[in-house]
Amino acid sequence: MPGKPHSLIVGGTRGIGRVLAEHFVKAGHRVSVIGRRSPEKKFPRGIRFWPADLLDAAKLRQTLTALIKRDGRLNSLICLQRFKSEGDQWEGEIATSLTATRQIIEQLSSQFVPGENNSIVLVSSAASNVIASEQGPGYHVAKAGLNQMARYYAVVLGPQGIRVNVVSPGTVLKPENRDFYLGNEKLQRLFKKTVPLGRMGTAAEIAEVIDFLSSAKASFITGQTLLVDGGVNLLSTETLARSLAG
Ligand SMILES: NC(=O)c1ccc[n+]([C@@H]2O[C@H](COP(=O)([O-])OP(=O)(O)OC[C@H]3O[C@@H](n4cnc5c(N)ncnc54)[C@H](OP(=O)(O)O)[C@@H]3O)[C@@H](O)[C@H]2O)c1
Repeated sequence: MPGKPHSLIVGGTRGIGRVLAEHFVKAGHRVSVIGRRSPEKKFPRGIRFWPADLLDAAKLRQTLTALIKRDGRLNSLICLQRFKSEGDQWEGEIATSLTATRQIIEQLSSQFVPGENNSIVLVSSAASNVIASEQGPGYHVAKAGLNQMARYYAVVLGPQGIRVNVVSPGTVLKPENRDFYLGNEKLQRLFKKTVPLGRMGTAAEIAEVIDFLSSAKASFITGQTLLVDGGVNLLSTETLARSLAG
């Protein structure tokens, strides 16, 4: 009888990652979280925080070794980190999203539990496919690269029973931006008009999709990208222009 699944969430100290960490604990996972800064609100029992800067490859290697030694082999790995620092945005996005994710997958692919449900989920963005003017070129290229990285590892790790998928959110409400978006009536009206489901998504809804892809319910799904944006990607320019014009 397998014990509680062990899930590693990279970038789980805040935002969508933190919501996911709490969701997984409620669902009975043992959760390890990597981030640079301690979470602002103390984690509940069941979540262990491992401080590490993903841009420091040696420290990252040590941290991954230590967390497997402490809490055992993994059943799921979720990478949600994105670059948010001063400095060269291009270099930062590529190093944080792509180089670190590759290092983590390469080191941990031999550390999943043989014969159990094993999954990797990479969190990308709608901006892997369309252009989001508020983000720079590094973000777009890194997210598009993540989608292809998932397909690559889906093929390479499939024989080991590790599935690799992508979740691509549109803009979502998370605890840190809730007041800003909900307090802005003009933006709320725009989302209502332009998103087929008539609203923004939430971090909790992204966590549910990651949970599904990580679970045995998705046991024959690998190498896929799930766009979770309330349908906004479906609209033609004409349709968007007409709905904005009222
Ligand atoms: N929010 C949205 O509306 C939205 C939309 C589309 C896609 N996404 C994607 O969803 C994911 C999560 O988004 P979010 O808004 O929840 O992000 P967020 O609030 O900015 O959280 C990012 C996480 O990554 C960690 N991180 C960043 N750089 C790191 C580094 N060098 N070393 C270690 N940890 C690092 C952060 O920890 P520290 O702060 O401690 O470093 C934090 O835990 C991202 O990949 C984002 O691109 C989000």
